Amino acid sequence: MTPKTPRQSEAVVADLMMPHQANGLRHSSVFGGVIMSMVDRCAALSAIRHCGGQATTLSIDRVLFKEPIRIGELVEVRARVVHVGRTSMSITADVFAEEIATGTRRHTNECWLTFVHLDDAGRPALVPPLFLETDEDRRVHALAAQRREQALADRRGL
Ligand SMILES: CC(C)(COP(=O)(O)OP(=O)(O)OC[C@H]1O[C@@H](n2cnc3c(N)ncnc32)[C@H](O)[C@@H]1OP(=O)(O)O)[C@@H](O)C(=O)NCCC(=O)NCCS
Repeated sequence: MTPKTPRQSEAVVADLMMPHQANGLRHSSVFGGVIMSMVDRCAALSAIRHCGGQATTLSIDRVLFKEPIRIGELVEVRARVVHVGRTSMSITADVFAEEIATGTRRHTNECWLTFVHLDDAGRPALVPPLFLETDEDRRVHALAAQRREQALADRRGL
């Protein structure tokens, strides 16, 4: 299988936040589940781009909401594959909120997800290797490797 770079799997999902996507807070902001759904879809695009087939969400390991997103803002999610095992792919997703009129953009969320490549029968299938191009690729790859080791240790009950 031909190696792919993190850039080759980069995916973007963007949406204008509308009133029906608000939470019930007094100073309402966007419901967290809306952002999580966008993150999951964007990471799925990234996983499919990398593996060249179908992929399923194994875990959404960390979703950190650093600050609220307001109704009327443009939300953009950017995801890429940053580490691969035999059949799984670790993906990071960054969420940006833009106040459209001023163009002011904030980094509001960061997330780690794991997807598994599935064959036509729905069984885990091999994924292409990852080709790391930059120092930043190598830095994030090392972080993802640590997270994967911890997740596998948790799975073994260690
Ligand atoms: C994803 C799924 C097919 C994996 O099945 P499984 O029996 O665990 O398969 P395997 O043991 O072969 O593991 C597949 C990969 O996931 C990894 N994995 C499985 N459980 C894991 C865990 N708890 N933590 C970290 N990695 C894990 C394995 O290490 C392997 O990756 P690798 O080949 O890169 O090492 C299965 O868990 C599933 O169908 N889950 C439901 C998915 C779903 O419904 N998602 C939401 C809708 S998209």
